[in-house]
Amino acid sequence: MGEITVSGGKNTAVAVIPAALLCNEPCTIENLPDIADVHALVDILRLLGAKVDYVAGSHMTIDASGSTGYQVDYSQTRRLRASYYLLGALLGRCGKAEVAYPGGCDFASRPIDQHLKGFQALGCQIDDRGGVVYAKTERLTGNDVFFDMVTVGGTINVMLAAARAEGTTVIYNAAKEPHIVDLANFLNSMGAKVKGAGTDVIRVRGVKELHGCTYTVIPDQIETGTLMIAAAATRGDVTIRGCIPTHMEALTAKLLEMGIKVTENDDSIRIQPQTVQRAVNVKTQVYPGFPTDLQQPMTALLCMANGTSTVSETIFEQRFKHLDELRRMGAKIKLMDRTVLIEGVEEMYGAPVTVTDLRAGAALVVAGLMAKGVTEIYETSFIDRGYERIEEKLRSLGADIRREKL
Ligand code: EPZ
Repeated sequence: MGEITVSGGKNTAVAVIPAALLCNEPCTIENLPDIADVHALVDILRLLGAKVDYVAGSHMTIDASGSTGYQVDYSQTRRLRASYYLLGALLGRCGKAEVAYPGGCDFASRPIDQHLKGFQALGCQIDDRGGVVYAKTERLTGNDVFFDMVTVGGTINVMLAAARAEGTTVIYNAAKEPHIVDLANFLNSMGAKVKGAGTDVIRVRGVKELHGCTYTVIPDQIETGTLMIAAAATRGDVTIRGCIPTHMEALTAKLLEMGIKVTENDDSIRIQPQTVQRAVNVKTQVYPGFPTDLQQPMTALLCMANGTSTVSETIFEQRFKHLDELRRMGAKIKLMDRTVLIEGVEEMYGAPVTVTDLRAGAALVVAGLMAKGVTEIYETSFIDRGYERIEEKLRSLGADIRREKL
């Protein structure tokens, strides 16, 4: 019950921060979320020699002029999945990069072959051995890049390398997520020439030099969606402020289909309680379809919907590790290939559960809010990678949730 303001976007922050390596003037980035992935990138940029002034919850100023590093080892890359963006940023900055394969969420194999294919198209020599990607080129040259599948990371990584390549790069079958558009806007604020972001063809005309800028990243689409789902799960009357309703349309449509009252204003969304929540069918798709990152919290919500729901995961083949934990809480769930069959139950019960990945953690928080009794959630560090103090935000809305030291 009440109002909550959403933080800046994690998946935009982890793309925009490395992009500051593409110029030798200070870049100030505002509205960054105070999360572990951002902290990890601050350390990595400092290790590369950049000067980083970071005021958590306020802004970050990055001056890469003194940065000569181009190697990032596994001790750093294991801290966040998005560390692979350092490949594109370092190639764009100095034509060479040695970056260990990332860590991060392990719900699928998560290859980066498309990223490497893109770099090769731009004239890079790629060596991939011992868990490290060695990339180098005398000269980055613009080219056409056609992705075999829509890849957010691949699209972002090629944009980063192409920004300062000689000539024009055209990315076909590009991802269209809000954070792709946000990165394009950031690059253009630095003097880059990126057109078409948000469509499936992005044109990047490389420029020799980029300059510093001040930029505010967009609000977090997935945190917004997670808060909307938590509000619906608890029958709360909640207004989420500082969000972009047009980014939420796929989820909003599904909640309306369930019979939940959703009201959109310019920069806020209000969720109001409805008694019966109907079962629905959900299928994850690339943007603007239903986001795979909301599949897990949505699965939790549907555990107590009225009827049988299905949730099909078309993006990541193994994004189902949260199902066992939900079953421990009384959920009636069957997994058939990549579709979850959920038979809505009257009641869920608190239980000790373990987080396996970031959005599985979000699902367990939602389930814990719905369940009768106490739910103890272990391995919450996964949740802190992508949500800024989630328990404080939910507590301010009346949830009985607290963090305890083990
Ligand atoms: C980004 O991951 C996000 N991570 C993910 O969010 C999000 O789930 C995903 O995009 C889809 O929206 C960040 O932005 C840091 P992809 P990414 O490349 O870039 C396959 C979260 O919870 N693929 O769009 O890794 C891949 O295996 C995280 O915030 C290849 O086969 O996703 C997947 O099946 C989790 N080869 C599909 O494409 C490649 O080279 C889409 O992956 C690249 C991808």
